[in-house]
Amino acid sequence: MKFKEFFILSFMGLKVVIPVAGKGTRLRPHTLLIPKALINVGEKKIIDYIMDIVVPLAPEEVIFVIGYLGDIIKEYIESAYPKVNSSFVIQEKPQGLGHAISVASQKINENDSLLILLGDLIFFADVNKAIKEIPTGEHTISVMSVHDPHRYGVVVLDKKGKYVEKLVEKPSTPVSNLAISGIYYFSIAKPLLESIKYIISNNIKTKGEYQLTDAMMEMVKKGEKISVFQIEEIYDCGSKEKLIEANNKLLDKFFKHIDIKSPAINIKNSVIIPPVYINPNAYIEMSVIGPYVSVHKGANIRNSVIRESIIEEGAYVDGMVMDKSLIGRDSYVEEAFRELNIGPHSEYKKKSL
Ligand code: G1P
Repeated sequence: MKFKEFFILSFMGLKVVIPVAGKGTRLRPHTLLIPKALINVGEKKIIDYIMDIVVPLAPEEVIFVIGYLGDIIKEYIESAYPKVNSSFVIQEKPQGLGHAISVASQKINENDSLLILLGDLIFFADVNKAIKEIPTGEHTISVMSVHDPHRYGVVVLDKKGKYVEKLVEKPSTPVSNLAISGIYYFSIAKPLLESIKYIISNNIKTKGEYQLTDAMMEMVKKGEKISVFQIEEIYDCGSKEKLIEANNKLLDKFFKHIDIKSPAINIKNSVIIPPVYINPNAYIEMSVIGPYVSVHKGANIRNSVIRESIIEEGAYVDGMVMDKSLIGRDSYVEEAFRELNIGPHSEYKKKSL
């Protein structure tokens, strides 16, 4: 690509930071071998939804802050997104989001603009529009209204409702129900980098960690202008229940009108109830799949009835009746058909719990 074209197509000086160092403890055992960012939900991995936002922005560099199982993330990104200029920095210990950005700061120049996207959430937002509307020198973060603000960083806006006046990380007393929802854009990185340095060198921690929220509060105190934009669709993938819920919503959004009929080559003698996602390299036989099931590459399902579940890559499922289940990569799950000879007036029941 000629220099002129590159200049037009890309945001020169835009660096994207994606923190993905977390252990995903609430998603264990799935995250014991696979990092959370690479867990499948809907038709693809959590990180793929984030890359769908990043790639069209054509940033100068995408910096992944890795730690736990970081090599697997690096390998995936490099093979799935060879055209993206990606780099990887290691956060040795999980010391908070502010700390994660400080680790990435070795690759950020003060005059770069900086987009931070949290790597464990799926959001649908017009980030390009949000960025373009921000005057140089100002900043913007995504927010959403929540019923449980104590689980988030929250913002209080000024009287005009335009700029952030106060930010509190996981407030114990409710100050606002406007929660920070994972997208942060700084048109110039300098004030943020300085504030992060400040909170780290003065050991300012909340809940034991160096918080991005606290660093932004320092910016506001110094007169920096941070506005907000509402984000409507956000899917938390933090636990098995949340992941299944996100899978349901994503299938509703993208696969509601896709009718997969048996007999496709890889689907034999089966009933498919949409919405479902079935990877072309999965194999299904004598089963009822759906609604709300995603079946990933290399999965093999036989003699089963499955709804509201995720069947991960390479999993083998035979003879199962399942609901709201998450079957991990390359696992083997088998139940047997029963051969019964039940006399009249007999009972063969499940135990009610
Ligand atoms: C982080 C941020 C918090 C934000 C949240 C969004 O918290 O610290 O301000 O509201 O992400 O999900 P975490 O979920 O990592 O505890």
